[in-house]
Amino acid sequence: MEEKLRTILKEARAEIVSANFSDYEQLRIKYLGRKSALARSLRKIKDLPEKARRDMGELGNRIKREIIQLLNDLKDKAKDKARDGRSASFDPTCPGIVPDLGRLHPITQIIDDLIEYFRGLGFSVAEGPEVELEKYNFDLLNIPDNHPARDEWDTFWVNRKEGSKNNTLLRTHTSPVQLRYMKSHKAPIRIIAPGRTFRYEAEDATHGSVFYQLEGLMIDKNITVANLKAVIDAMVKHILGEDVETRLRPSYFPFTEPSYEVDAWFGGKWLELMGCGMVSRKVLKNGGVDPDEYSGFAFGMGIERLIMLKYGIKDIRYFYQPNFDFLKQF
Ligand code: DAH
Repeated sequence: MEEKLRTILKEARAEIVSANFSDYEQLRIKYLGRKSALARSLRKIKDLPEKARRDMGELGNRIKREIIQLLNDLKDKAKDKARDGRSASFDPTCPGIVPDLGRLHPITQIIDDLIEYFRGLGFSVAEGPEVELEKYNFDLLNIPDNHPARDEWDTFWVNRKEGSKNNTLLRTHTSPVQLRYMKSHKAPIRIIAPGRTFRYEAEDATHGSVFYQLEGLMIDKNITVANLKAVIDAMVKHILGEDVETRLRPSYFPFTEPSYEVDAWFGGKWLELMGCGMVSRKVLKNGGVDPDEYSGFAFGMGIERLIMLKYGIKDIRYFYQPNFDFLKQF
């Protein structure tokens, strides 16, 4: 009996070690199947005298375990081969690689939301170039050269020659879109202009040299501060919540008269949200709009700041880093 068992193992070893995976099933049946020599031998063990029964039982089980191991090795070898790409075998039951799904950036999400909201108020979307002419970014907005107000918009110049009319810069705000639109469209006008803006300044938690603004412009007959206040208040409530109050605080911008800052009562304090005002007569004229017939209001709001207030985000730089743990939360 012992002799028989050892012969089975020897044979199995020789055959399985040099076999291919395609022979796996046939070998498994041959060596472990119910009709295999091993199974037949094991069945006979129960008829042996007690001591031999115990010894042969042990030996038989050890040999069975070893054959199982040999067959498992054969399987592993096949898997390794498949991984190396050297085998044509493909296991369609293996789980696939699930790709990470992307999503819209929080800035894109809030801009889309605001576009949708303003569409409901009859506003359309206008765009302007990021590399802008000096005259649209400054002069036509009533900020002439050497005007001290220019210092408030630290500027990346692209092209700058003293006295040239074609100087270009990276727009420091979205306000030049107001002029571009007025010049190319007749009043009445209702537009928003979301887009990227640039300032030549050091970056920190609350300042980016690249950031987004959303500009608004409404021109019609008899537009007053009441219209300005109503539209801005409704927009802020839409973004921050119906219970959020707003107030207009007197301020100064060269292109509006009067000018205001909008504050929102949020999280237990007044927070500054944007600049706004009634478009000055001079700017209306520059845009080809008759200030005796029409009046209008405008506003300009920082997008990142708004999202930061809404969600309590402490650092503007998060928006521009590929930090998926941050971005996935929106
Ligand atoms: N352009 C201004 C800025 O970037 C913001 C602003 C203020 C826009 C008043 C306006 C406005 O349209 O009326 O600081």
